[in-house]
Amino acid sequence: MEKLYHLTKAEQLTTSIVADLLKDAEGFNKSLKAGVRNFKNLSGVTICSLFYEESTRTRFSFERAALLLGATVIGTENAAKFSSAAKGESLEHTIKMVSGAAKGHLGYADIIVLRHPENDAADRAARVSSVPIINAGSGADEHPTQALLDAYTFQKLLGRLDHFTISFIGDLKFSRVVNSDAFLLSQYPGVKMFFVAPEGLEIRPELKSYLSQKEVEFEEASDIKAVVRESDICYVVRVQKNRIKDSELLLAYQRNKDNFAVTEEVYKMSQQKGTFFCHPMPVDEEEQEIRPEVENLPRVKMFEQAGYGVPVRMAILAKVWQNTKI
Ligand code: CP
Repeated sequence: MEKLYHLTKAEQLTTSIVADLLKDAEGFNKSLKAGVRNFKNLSGVTICSLFYEESTRTRFSFERAALLLGATVIGTENAAKFSSAAKGESLEHTIKMVSGAAKGHLGYADIIVLRHPENDAADRAARVSSVPIINAGSGADEHPTQALLDAYTFQKLLGRLDHFTISFIGDLKFSRVVNSDAFLLSQYPGVKMFFVAPEGLEIRPELKSYLSQKEVEFEEASDIKAVVRESDICYVVRVQKNRIKDSELLLAYQRNKDNFAVTEEVYKMSQQKGTFFCHPMPVDEEEQEIRPEVENLPRVKMFEQAGYGVPVRMAILAKVWQNTKI
């Protein structure tokens, strides 16, 4: 099987790697449920949690995963301001220093978990790092560990990763999660994808070309109500206000936001199909793409989904560390 060392893109997550990691994640999940807290997989290991962009779930779940596995965690939640990036240091110099590129035994960390606003940041970091880089979100491009925890969620909900229909809904142009999820799921037979986005925020042409090349069946639509009855999973994402430069695009979304939201009407429409609703979170409190009146209903799974971040990231960290030694 391919060896996972750096994890920068969902395309690295082959079906055999996914199966292996999901099996390990299930083991960690069961142990956590049984009350185990003192895993030893990363005993003596230091994880650097290097976040240049804001995060709640990814950072906390990675840090909790590392601590549960027995690692020490160093890092910053705002590297743009609190690391020497604020003094003009390049990402490459930071990574070389932290990873001990000059003299390995003098490095500061054994694995670096990196979130960064630039699309190519994780690949740039991997090129100069002497320890594994795990991409915890790079610009609007990739979020491979979210794709893995989503795959874990879909498998838990449906019992499989093949032969199902998923609708991605919302701002698909700037969503790194949708990009990574679509890459990962494109490898499985019989996965049909609907893409439901406001005008100007549709999925990127490169992703469409990739899916066509992989012979994935997909269709575009402009209203969740047109696809929900056919969907096993509706995967909703927020409008990425932090990345949209053209205010007209945001206004276009806001004018039609009911078309991209899980409302009571949408939930009721999906009763017969039994559609599950997922969301990587955060939900935008102003736009309410998952309406408060449905967020605690049984088929809305976003909180459970976010919780799976812990065992899935435990599996990733343990595997990557194990692979440094073989
Ligand atoms: N899903 C996700 O990446 O959430 P955070 O931005 O809170 O880490």
